[in-house]
Amino acid sequence: MGWQETFEKIASELMKNPTHDFEHAKRVCSISIRLAREEHADEDVVKAAALLHDVGYSIDEKEHEGKSIEVAKSLLEMTDFPEEKKEKVIECIREHRFTKGEKARSLEAKILQDADRLDAIGAVGIARCFLWSGEHRKVLKEAIKHFNEKLLKLKDTMNTKGGRKMAEERHEFMLEFLEKLESERDETTPQTSATGPSYR
Ligand SMILES: [Fe+2]
Ligand SMILES: [Fe+2]
Repeated sequence: MGWQETFEKIASELMKNPTHDFEHAKRVCSISIRLAREEHADEDVVKAAALLHDVGYSIDEKEHEGKSIEVAKSLLEMTDFPEEKKEKVIECIREHRFTKGEKARSLEAKILQDADRLDAIGAVGIARCFLWSGEHRKVLKEAIKHFNEKLLKLKDTMNTKGGRKMAEERHEFMLEFLEKLESERDETTPQTSATGPSYR
């Protein structure tokens, strides 16, 4: 079995969290490959890093990049993954998190950050936000707050040109969705004196 197949197999077995399942890794992987081609980055590095960046999430959500690194290190050792690229993969995983305010140094780490953040916005991002909110027993109002606190800020954190373009489209769709959501909430919820948020 080649390294890619092994990483996919292990990631699909470990990633069982509703928002961080194997589908998330696969989407981040395909966006990363697309951006790597545009940016002439190392495709092996972004592919491996994307498949493995969240494998530790089900073990320890808060410090998951550390757990992902542990798993990734042993997988990189047991497979035929090119020796000289292993450290770059670990670096990408270490620097991928938005919440930790990590700065990506290499081009490949920048690409993984962009791809991971792109999967948190747009239609998929909306779906994942509500999945996460349900999982953490948050009510609708709190889920909406998460858009303002994080999701609507992601567009401006993109590192690559391709990432920025994709983020703009996804951002626009979130604004449309939020406006519609607010108008439907206004119709059904009793009015208070406070005016609702404006998304544009
Ligand atoms: Fe992550
Ligand atoms: Fe992720």
